[in-house]
Amino acid sequence: MDKITAVKGIKDILPSETPRWQKVETTARAIFERFGFHEIRVPIMEKTALFQRSIGEATDIVEKEMYTFRDRDEELLTLRPEATACVIRAYVEHNLASAEPVTKLFTIGPMFRRERPQKGRYRQFHQIDVEVFGDDTPASDAEVIFMLMHFLDVAGVENLSLEINSLGCKDCRPGFSRAVVAYLGQFQDGLCPDCQRRLTTNPLRVFDCKVEACGRIISDAPRILDHLCPECLDHFDRVKGFLDDLNLEYAVNSNMVRGLDYYTKTAFEVKSGKLGAQNSLAGGGRYDGLVALLGGPDVAGVGFGIGMERLLACLPDTEENVGKTDIFVAALGTRALKFAFKLTGLLRRSGFTAATDYSGKSLKSQMKRADKMQSAFTLIIGDSEMDSGRAVLRNMKTKNQQDLLLESLPEALINILKSEVIL
Ligand code: HAM
Repeated sequence: MDKITAVKGIKDILPSETPRWQKVETTARAIFERFGFHEIRVPIMEKTALFQRSIGEATDIVEKEMYTFRDRDEELLTLRPEATACVIRAYVEHNLASAEPVTKLFTIGPMFRRERPQKGRYRQFHQIDVEVFGDDTPASDAEVIFMLMHFLDVAGVENLSLEINSLGCKDCRPGFSRAVVAYLGQFQDGLCPDCQRRLTTNPLRVFDCKVEACGRIISDAPRILDHLCPECLDHFDRVKGFLDDLNLEYAVNSNMVRGLDYYTKTAFEVKSGKLGAQNSLAGGGRYDGLVALLGGPDVAGVGFGIGMERLLACLPDTEENVGKTDIFVAALGTRALKFAFKLTGLLRRSGFTAATDYSGKSLKSQMKRADKMQSAFTLIIGDSEMDSGRAVLRNMKTKNQQDLLLESLPEALINILKSEVIL
């Protein structure tokens, strides 16, 4: 029969890879806790309107990348393409603002975008997502950026570049948009068909276009930083000041607009030279007004998302410890198997990693298996050992063997393992 394979652009994370994922996730949890963040777990499926309203109707994500379907009762649902909207929905729905005026949340999990798969770009990918609600100060932007850079540093990612920009607010951005439309209007014929359409639907998206001709035109376009209102300009200057205070290096990239419509004021991206074409490792920014747009209180928001696959691709290929075994019980014969079954259970209850083989294979093949599992010790027990009341314990590293009495076996083993194996 034909085998059924995974869906295009959607990958398994294999047992040999999971230790690296777990390590990064553990680091994230430990560091975020220091900054006062709490974990929230939100569903992977939401009502489609949530993303249409937050990310923006005229963005690539909403226009062509969402996995949207009609449920059996005709409701339109979408597999989340990002987490910010989901976290806000939960924050509003459960009135989390009432418990703590400044709410700091993070979530880790899969996101779905129907992009063209390539190295570093998948249709199911994972993000570490961080959000702060209720703090509109520039210090809060800088703190979030600092936490991101500190986390990436501790996780072991090197050679990173941080780019920042300000995208203005509802007062100053429309003026900038008009200036961009006026400028691009002169070169309309040179723009790709998508950008020609964007001129009327969402002009700032032209800054994100990967077509070379559009890139050339955009390089001389008006700069948002020349159009900021005094409040946004002051906010941006103070964010930069705080980043300087923290000795964080950054470059101002006035062409960075981010692919989602909800950003106001500060936007940032972290890139890595190690990543090739898909070089954006993390991105985020401020989104004051979005919580209110989604039916919540008028509180400020700032956050970021890190791509897990891309983060892991930046790390050196070190071998993580893939579940080593403390003791393998090699049992031969029916009575010995029964004994081994009970013994491994007891050892596991006592906190050791114990393995055995119920198939009754030869001693040779069981010893091979113990070797493969990198077992520290192997206990050999057959029906004849059951008769003689003794079993053989072999130290797999030194090859030393010793006889142990069956009647006091569990206690003796636990003592030996405790002195040899670090729990
Ligand atoms: P984003 O820039 O769309 O922002 O995604 C954040 C990160 O997710 C990217 O920098 C990249 O590492 C990873 N990523 C995105 N698409 C893919 C893909 N197809 N395959 C692999 N990795 C991918 C957001 O999603 C915002 N919600 C971030 C945010 C949180 N802003 C404020 N709060």
